[in-house]
Amino acid sequence: MRGRSKPKIYILLGTRPEVIKMAPVILALKKEPWADLKIVSTAQHRELLDQMLAVFDIRADEDFNIMKPNQSLPDLTSELIKRVSDFLRERKPDLVLAQGDTTTVMATAISCFYEKIPFGHVEAGLRSGDLYNPFPEEFNRIVADRLAELNFAPTERARQNLLREGLPEEKIFVTGNTVIDALLMTARREIQIPEVDPYLRNGHKLMLITFHRRESFGEPLREVLQAVKDLAQRRRELVVLYPVHPNPNVREEAYRVLQGVERVFLSEPLDYVSFVSAMNRSYIILTDSGGVQEEAPALGKPVLVARERTERPEVIEHGLGKLVGRSKERIILEVERLLDDGEYYKSMAKGYSPYGDGRASERVVEIIKRWWMSRA
Ligand code: UD1
Ligand code: UDP
Repeated sequence: MRGRSKPKIYILLGTRPEVIKMAPVILALKKEPWADLKIVSTAQHRELLDQMLAVFDIRADEDFNIMKPNQSLPDLTSELIKRVSDFLRERKPDLVLAQGDTTTVMATAISCFYEKIPFGHVEAGLRSGDLYNPFPEEFNRIVADRLAELNFAPTERARQNLLREGLPEEKIFVTGNTVIDALLMTARREIQIPEVDPYLRNGHKLMLITFHRRESFGEPLREVLQAVKDLAQRRRELVVLYPVHPNPNVREEAYRVLQGVERVFLSEPLDYVSFVSAMNRSYIILTDSGGVQEEAPALGKPVLVARERTERPEVIEHGLGKLVGRSKERIILEVERLLDDGEYYKSMAKGYSPYGDGRASERVVEIIKRWWMSRA
């Protein structure tokens, strides 16, 4: 290692998926004697972040406590840039890392740029090709990738996306997606779900749902919820579990349409171990989540993606999932096809992942080490 002291590496975390996907990197970096690691929580999502930090036994060294009820994106973004920039100016880390596509990640990348501090982006190069789908995540990751010194791309396709945008080859590294590391790290305990378990013992089929994207607020969200309601009413073999995202735009509508519907159970967000267990016991997963699109195929579960565009086309191309949009009729059709056509179901439930071998975090750490050594 270079003559000077250990590199100060700061990892910024804002919400749930960042904690899950950075946990393997954090745990790997903690074991490295050459790195001085600090965890910074922006707490863009207080409850979701804290819930996941507890699961992985990660303690934040700093906490900006940024969440306010129904904060607008401009308020959130400007507050984050100010807080993160001031902090970096004072602490002067050697490298800052962030993961994914939240506003925390975009604001961190911009703050690093202003303070001229190297930034590393984990899960770089994902593109849906439409700035407004998902909104604002597509923009967030474009900014983060453009400003990153180190881009950790999960797949070759992600690398190609970055090359096409003119990023230099030496700033891009294909590592796999750390989500697979997180899945493998997570105990495969069967967690009880008291409302749902009696149905599963009776041979019912579990449909697990998550839904929270901003571009779907309003009419598209209502269509998806109505599809779930209709499906539960006409397909008596189904039992539905829906851990509802706490964003009030989602929560209020979800409870309004689905509360009290027979065999539909709404819950608070599940901790990761419980959610993995629920995915494992599902028959079908219907989601607009980025992370769940990657996890479901790895667990051999057909995933129906209730979105118009995806930045994870590998899932669709490998026939492990299907992009089904957000119209009620289409969602009902696609779920019923999976219920009625056993061969079709089997063709989707292959049980492998295009996102890596569970060693992505190891590669990320090795690349950081080499980068640091080369900066003499
Ligand atoms: C954010 C990310 C999204 C990510 C998701 C993960 C942005 C713009 N969006 O979603 O990419 O997939 O997190 O979950 O970065 N709220 C609570 N309690 C909570 C969380 C949220 O009350 O624990 C409410 C607050 O009123 C908050 C609002 O939800 O202001 C919106 O939260 P926000 O962090 O802005 O983003 P989301 O779009 O919900
Ligand atoms: N997840 C969880 N509990 C839940 C819902 C989701 O642990 O109740 C996990 C899920 O397994 C995935 C991650 O949260 O790893 C995805 O988060 P989210 O859908 O909020 O964000 P996105 O991936 O779309 O950015």
